[in-house]
Amino acid sequence: MSGSGFAIRDNALMKETPTSTTPAAWHVLGGGAMGCLWACSLATAGHPARLLLRQPPACATDSDITLSPRPTDGLHKQSLQIPVRIEGAGDATPITRLLACTKAPDLLPALADLAPRVVDGAAVVLLQNGMGFHAEAAALLPRARIFCALTTEGAYLQSRLSVRHAGSGETLLGAFPGGADGGAAQLAAELGCGFLPVRPVENILPSLWAKLAINCAINPLTALHGCTNGELLERPGLRSEFDALCTEISGLLAGLGHPLLASAVAADAVRVARATAANRSSMLQDLEAGRRTEIRYITGFLCQNAKAAGLPCPRNDALFRAVRQREHGGQP
Ligand code: PAF
Repeated sequence: MSGSGFAIRDNALMKETPTSTTPAAWHVLGGGAMGCLWACSLATAGHPARLLLRQPPACATDSDITLSPRPTDGLHKQSLQIPVRIEGAGDATPITRLLACTKAPDLLPALADLAPRVVDGAAVVLLQNGMGFHAEAAALLPRARIFCALTTEGAYLQSRLSVRHAGSGETLLGAFPGGADGGAAQLAAELGCGFLPVRPVENILPSLWAKLAINCAINPLTALHGCTNGELLERPGLRSEFDALCTEISGLLAGLGHPLLASAVAADAVRVARATAANRSSMLQDLEAGRRTEIRYITGFLCQNAKAAGLPCPRNDALFRAVRQREHGGQP
C-alpha cells in the first residue's frame, strides 16, 4: 500500500498505440455485479465488450449476460440477454480499454496477469472501493494511462452472469494521480455511451477521500456488528460508537490537509447510512461470505496516512485490527 504522496505521472505524455478496432473494445475485469452491469451498458451502446473472468467457462466463448434494467435505462424491457465475449487471463487479445471492477484485494494480482496484454497507452480505469492501490497498479502497468472512477450505481447478481440494475447513480472519472484532464473527458464519453452516465472530473482525489471517509465510518462497524447501515443510526449503543468514529475521522482528515471534507464527513456519513438504511455493507457481506474484505484499502489506508503524519487514530486502528482478526476466523 502506498501513502498519499503520488508520483509524478502524466497520462498526456503516454501515446496510445493505434488499433484497427473501431470503436475500441472494452475489456471489463470481474464477473461481479459491477463488471456485468458495465459490460451490459457498453454492449447495449454497440461497443464490443469482453468480460474477463478468473475462471471462464470451460470453452471461453460468446455468452450472454442476463440484465434486469431499471425503467430509466431506456431499454424498455424487464429482462434482456446481452451478448458479450468471455475471456480468461490466458487469452491473447490485446487490451486497449480496461475497466477493472474486481474487489480491491483482487486487483493487483489480476492486473499482473493481464499486464503482457495491455498495449502502450491503453486506458485502464480502476473502479474499486478504497485507496492505496492506484500507485501500485500504475507501477504494474507503467505504459498504460491510469484513471480512477467512483460510482453510486447500485447492482446485484441474481445468479452467475445475471445482474439487476438496482439503483441509478452517477460515475465520476478522473486521471490518476489527478491534476490536468489527461484524457478523462474523452474516456468518460466512451465509457458513458451506454445507460450508465459518466462525468469527467479534473481532480478525482477529493472525491476518493470523501468516499473513503464514508466507507471508514460505515463499513467496519456494520461488518463487526452484523447490522444494516441504517441500524448504525438507530441502535443507541451503535449510534454513539458511529458518532465518535466520525469525530475521529473528521479530525484525521483535517490533520491530513482536507479541511472541507473534515467538516462534511459526519453529515455525509449519516446521509449515506440513511439513504442505504436497508443495505448490508460490502464489508459485512465479504466477512459473512468468508472473503477477504477491503479493510486494508479503507480503514488501513486512513490509519497508515494518519500514523505517517503523527496523528493518533485509536478507534480506526482498533476497527482495522478487529476486522483483520475476523477475516482470519478469529472472534472479536
Ligand atoms: O461499501 C458499501 O457497502 C457502500 O459503499 C456503502 C456506502 C457503505 C453503502 O452500503
